[in-house]
Amino acid sequence: MNTQAAATSRRDLRKRCLELRLKEFPWTSNTIYFNNAGIGPLPERSRVVVDELVAEKMAPHTIDVPGLFDRLAETRRTVGRLINAEADEIGLTTSTSLGLNIAAHALPLQASDIVLVPQREFPANVYPWLQLESRGVKVELTQPTSDGWPDEKYLCDRVSDPKVKALAISLVQFSNGYKANIARLGEACRLNDCYLVVDGIQGIGQTPFDVKSTAVDIMACGGQKWLLSPFGSGFVYVRKGLLEQLEPTFVGWLALKVQTITPGSPSTSTSCTPMHVGSRSTHCRFRICLVWTKV
Ligand SMILES: Cc1ncc(COP(=O)(O)O)c(C=O)c1O
Repeated sequence: MNTQAAATSRRDLRKRCLELRLKEFPWTSNTIYFNNAGIGPLPERSRVVVDELVAEKMAPHTIDVPGLFDRLAETRRTVGRLINAEADEIGLTTSTSLGLNIAAHALPLQASDIVLVPQREFPANVYPWLQLESRGVKVELTQPTSDGWPDEKYLCDRVSDPKVKALAISLVQFSNGYKANIARLGEACRLNDCYLVVDGIQGIGQTPFDVKSTAVDIMACGGQKWLLSPFGSGFVYVRKGLLEQLEPTFVGWLALKVQTITPGSPSTSTSCTPMHVGSRSTHCRFRICLVWTKV
C-alpha cells in the first residue's frame, strides 16, 4: 500500500470509529471519557435489548420459557468464543467475586495447603482466600517487585513447594495496569500440580485471551468493565476435567447434570456443578454482552 492509500485507509477507519462511537455512546459527542477499567459504559444496542427484555418480563405471558434456556446457552457459547473455551466450561455469574468465591470454596484445598496471592491484588481476589484460613489453609501474600508488580519469578519458583496448591492472580493489576504473564505462570503451575486461578475483569474484553493456550484452571470475570455489560453480570470459566474435582459450593436445581422438577423425586445420584445454581437473569447478564460481541 502506498503512503497516500495508507493515509486514506486510516482516515476511513477513524471516520468509521467515530460513527460507531457516536451511535453506540451518543453522550460522547460532548464528553471525553477515559475508561480506566473503572466502570465500562453500556452501548446503545445493549440498552435496546435490555428494554426489550424488560418489556417481555412486564408481560410474562409473552415469555418463551424454553427460549430463556436457549438464551443462556447462547450466552455461554458467546463468552466461550471470547476466551476460546467450550460453552460447558462457562458458568454465568453475578460478579467477579462470585467466581472467585466458587474457586476458593470448590477447589479441593485442605488444612496446611498454601495459596499464593500477590500483595496489591484487588480485595475481591484476597478475601475469598483469607476466608479459607478458618479451615487451616494458609494464604501467603507475596511481595511485589520493586516496580510494584507481582513477582513472577518468585511465584514460578514458589509453586515448586508441594504444599503450594493454588495461585490466584489478576490478569491485569487494578492499581498499576501490569499485565501478568499468565502463560509463564500457568506453565509453572501445571508442572507443579498447582491450581491457577485468574481474576480476568481488568483485561478480558480489552486484551485477547485464549484459555487453551494457557494453563488457567479457573477464571472469574465481571461484565461491568471492558465487557460493557451491566453490574450484576459475569462469568466463571472452569477448565474441562477440573469440574469433576470440584466440591459443589452451592447446590440447586440448575446445578444438577440431570435436571428434574418432578415432585418428590429428588436424586442425589446426579452429579452437580458449582457453576450454576438457580434461575439466572436473562436480561441483566450476558445477553447484553452477547449482543455487543456479536456484531
Ligand atoms: C481486579 C478486580 N477484581 C474484581 C473487581 C470487582 O469485583 P466484582 O465484579 O466482584 O465487583 C475489580 C473492580 O471493580 C477489579 O479491579
